[in-house]
Amino acid sequence: MIKISSSILNADFTQLANVVRSLEASGTDMLHLDIMDGVFVPNISFGFPIIESLRKITTLFFDVHLMIANPGKYIESIAKAGADGITFHYESALNKAGSNESALNKVGSNEASRNVEKTLIKIKKLQKKSCLAIKPETAAEAVFSYLPLCDTILVMTVEPGFGKQRFIESTLSKISIIREEISRQKLNVSIQVDGGIDIKTAPQVIQAGANILVAGNVLFSADDMKSVMENLRG
Ligand code: DX5
Ligand code: ZN
Repeated sequence: MIKISSSILNADFTQLANVVRSLEASGTDMLHLDIMDGVFVPNISFGFPIIESLRKITTLFFDVHLMIANPGKYIESIAKAGADGITFHYESALNKAGSNESALNKVGSNEASRNVEKTLIKIKKLQKKSCLAIKPETAAEAVFSYLPLCDTILVMTVEPGFGKQRFIESTLSKISIIREEISRQKLNVSIQVDGGIDIKTAPQVIQAGANILVAGNVLFSADDMKSVMENLRG
């Protein structure tokens, strides 16, 4: 079963409650909430007040995508605000100083992997779905050792930070490599894709092994979101 997680990043924020109502009516499986801090990514989006407010008006699954430095520090508060699933980036998990560059330099170190593990365990202890994300330039193999602690792996199919970007084709092989490794380890882990998903790229990512598709611009540029969602599911 292919699931759609609708990203509100490019929605009209003066109409947020109505947007959520129409996404519900169109059959979205989840609401994808992109949290950006201007440090891990070169953009700032929204934070706790929006999650808390939306939590009051819908029972939809809140799929919170943290694009922030030092995500481990905010897991409890994101859970408390209303997240059902929490995604953080492999590249940011060790980032105490708040610099993306220093985080990337430490990738692969023991400190890095301990931080990734600790953050995943923190999410699991709060009984939320855990998801580890990788940016387009990060190798698929980076997530292999964490798969048993993950409900989902998010393969970014654009550079994180902005909606309406072009899908990066080279991410397709990473999806397949991760899907194979999940089978090899006999696990039940979802693969989510985020960025540039549309009618053309959806069949490609599904074929490669993705089962949760984040949809942003493809929905908000359409007249009929329900039929777009049906078409994306294939
Ligand atoms: C980008 C965000 C995405 C974004 C996707 O950094 O993580 O969730 O909203 O938007 P589209 O579908 O327009 O690429
Ligand atoms: Zn996202």
